[in-house]
Amino acid sequence: MQKKIIIEGGRRLEGSCRIKAAKNSVLPILACTVLCSGEVRLHNCPNISDIRDMLEILRSLGAKVSTHGIISGDITIDCRYVDKTAVTGDLTSAIRSSIFLLGPIVTRFGQGIVSSPGGCQIGSRPIDIHLDGLKALGVDIDDQNCLIRCSVKTGKLVGGDIRLKMPSVGATENLMMAAVLAVGRTVISNAAKEPEIVDLANFINAMGGNVQGAGTSEIVIDGVDGLVGGDFTPIPDRIVAGTYMIGCAMCGGCVRLEGANLGHLGALQTVLEKTGVGVFGDSNHIIVESNGNLISPGRIETEVYPGFATDLQAQLMAMLAVTKGESIIVENLFETRFRHAEELTKMGADIDVVNKSAIIKGVKRLVGAEVNAFDLRGGAAMVLAGLAANGTTVVSDVHYIERGYENIVGDLRGLGAEIK
Ligand code: UD1
Repeated sequence: MQKKIIIEGGRRLEGSCRIKAAKNSVLPILACTVLCSGEVRLHNCPNISDIRDMLEILRSLGAKVSTHGIISGDITIDCRYVDKTAVTGDLTSAIRSSIFLLGPIVTRFGQGIVSSPGGCQIGSRPIDIHLDGLKALGVDIDDQNCLIRCSVKTGKLVGGDIRLKMPSVGATENLMMAAVLAVGRTVISNAAKEPEIVDLANFINAMGGNVQGAGTSEIVIDGVDGLVGGDFTPIPDRIVAGTYMIGCAMCGGCVRLEGANLGHLGALQTVLEKTGVGVFGDSNHIIVESNGNLISPGRIETEVYPGFATDLQAQLMAMLAVTKGESIIVENLFETRFRHAEELTKMGADIDVVNKSAIIKGVKRLVGAEVNAFDLRGGAAMVLAGLAANGTTVVSDVHYIERGYENIVGDLRGLGAEIK
């Protein structure tokens, strides 16, 4: 039976909720364990399908993976015995993050094959920056029939200067990992600066690598012979935290997010404060206070970090749908990331999408309806809309939401929402 989320809207959100590690940190770190010659123990990891799929792919390569402690967030990975270099098959096509394995596999084995992530339909999410960067480190690439075959003539990557044409998060991470075992120094310029990049660099350094400058647009990696194992706790998920912050702003109430880092959410804090919401906290917790009467913050554009995150754009749109006045969202990162606008309209929202802009005229109340999750964050936005709507909302295709939220229903119920 297809899973659905059913929400009776109109409750305030009160109480506290613990935020686990960031999906977008854990996924590249899991790929990076391919470089480690000892057991890696990751803590506070969410039990979500994207991470389970990545672990399954690691297992298929020969890694020993233990998820006995996953309920409390512990995962143990030992990649010593990895002996396969082809990342193909259904799971690879299903999760885009399988591309992260290319850099680590090629730098460890001098060869590797990966299916084009997401099958052949990568259209608006290309991987040319990943591949151009690997070529600059001496990798020969044959990209045909949805298979990317990589080889290195000498067996060893050689450090070099890579200038990214765009600060792609995934490409920066992939190339950082590839450079870890390359001979000599690699300099990545125009690198992405997201907190997850800094986290990956911290992981690499904790396991014996040498990465400097992560968090700035120039990252310098000095090659080493190998990484060791050890313990690591990835950073908290700023998108999950941001989703619940927006939920509290919309519904009214007071919510405390334990373990969340406000330093990673400066752009959202600014927007929420403009709408009249109180946001307080530090690197270990966030408190949001709202009376539920929001005023338009004007125009918001998604940008690379530290700008407003594209992964919070859908949730923000749900909020602006019930925010007094006219607001504009400009989506600069991805071309077709407005499918939730149509679903919000089914609930009475007044939204016009023109190219990469959405013009949102706030209505007093949304009305519960049957709506779809078309993607992970768009799905979360529909849940938030349901919380703030009059009546019952039913969200279908919940499996998208489960890719990135361990227990969105339990978390929100714990905050007083009527949701099942
Ligand atoms: C990561 C995040 C994702 C987030 C995105 C932007 C993970 C697992 N996912 O995705 O949640 O929405 O950052 O913050 O961390 N591009 C190219 N060529 C490439 C790579 C990217 O043109 O080779 C373009 C993309 O089409 C997009 C832009 O660059 O327009 C940003 O993409 P990128 O930063 O690479 O996003 P991801 O790493 O895929």
